Amino acid sequence: MDDKIEQVRSAALDAIAAAESLEGLQQVRIQYLGKKGSIQELMSFMKSLSKEEKPAFGQKVNLCKQEVGEAIEARQKELQKVELAARLEKEKIDITLPADRFELGTEHPLIMIQQELEDLFLGMGYKVAEGPELEQDYYNFELANIPKDHPARDMQDTFYVDPNTLLRTHTTAMQMRELEKAKGQTPIKLICPGKVYRRDDDDATHSHQFMQCEGLVVGEKVTLADLKGTLEFMANRMFGEGRKIRFRPSYFPFTEPSVEVDVSCPFCNGKGCSVCKGSGWIEILGAGMVHPHVLEMNGFDSEKCSGFAFGVGLERVAMLKYGIDDIRNFYTNDLRFLKTFDRFD
Ligand code: PHE
Repeated sequence: MDDKIEQVRSAALDAIAAAESLEGLQQVRIQYLGKKGSIQELMSFMKSLSKEEKPAFGQKVNLCKQEVGEAIEARQKELQKVELAARLEKEKIDITLPADRFELGTEHPLIMIQQELEDLFLGMGYKVAEGPELEQDYYNFELANIPKDHPARDMQDTFYVDPNTLLRTHTTAMQMRELEKAKGQTPIKLICPGKVYRRDDDDATHSHQFMQCEGLVVGEKVTLADLKGTLEFMANRMFGEGRKIRFRPSYFPFTEPSVEVDVSCPFCNGKGCSVCKGSGWIEILGAGMVHPHVLEMNGFDSEKCSGFAFGVGLERVAMLKYGIDDIRNFYTNDLRFLKTFDRFD
């Protein structure tokens, strides 16, 4: 009988030593320690033994069981270590490998200028308004004091979709929508940036699509001096401290008086250079006091309130600020040009 136990014991220990994986070891465990395993089987021999022999036999089988169990435990620990090492080896990360370059897009220079203007005016308590690019003749022209056969319509060659619908030619269309929306209530203090379109032949300084930002303030006792102070502040923030501005009389149907605004040349500080063509001044925008008729048409009492408005071209600002000499650069989407504005490069 003892031989039998010894046989099972050594066979079990051999099998344990030979197990190469945790899975294989589990098979060995079932084979020897399972309910129908070899060691359990030894117990069935008990029946054929005498009463005296039984305890010693039982003890030996239990000892064998214990020994096999411990051997399995020990082997399991070893195999776990081996398998962990193999896994670590397999999943090793080579931190010296160059990482994939993640290409980030950049903001378009015109969007950067728009955001700069928005920040600047939000800081002064303005709100930012929006409006449709496909506009009605009514808001683009009629409400802006430019009736159907008004010669001023020729100033802005228009893309018409049908006789009443057009691609807005200026952000003043949004100004009219906001005035109408306010229903005669003041104060109004807003800017409306956006794309505008004109039937121009594209060249270095003209583009059939461009961007403007309109400013509008309406309230009691709003004066030309307020307009001047506001634009001077804007010029200093956009083109650097020390900028001066000057007004030149001009004409827009929706403002009276109307002015064209020049900023002292940021390149030569007003001394005269090739950019300002020797004059020391650069024209940057159109502006004026909102025409009383425009206020009246939109339901305001022009005796009680007044307003100023201005419209600045974003390309013009960007070209001056970044020294860009061809407006088409903004629209041809040449990555070499756009990349020069990459803040993360
Ligand atoms: N709408 C004018 C233009 O496009 C600019 C402007 C806006 C002038 C507001 C005066 C007041 O040229």
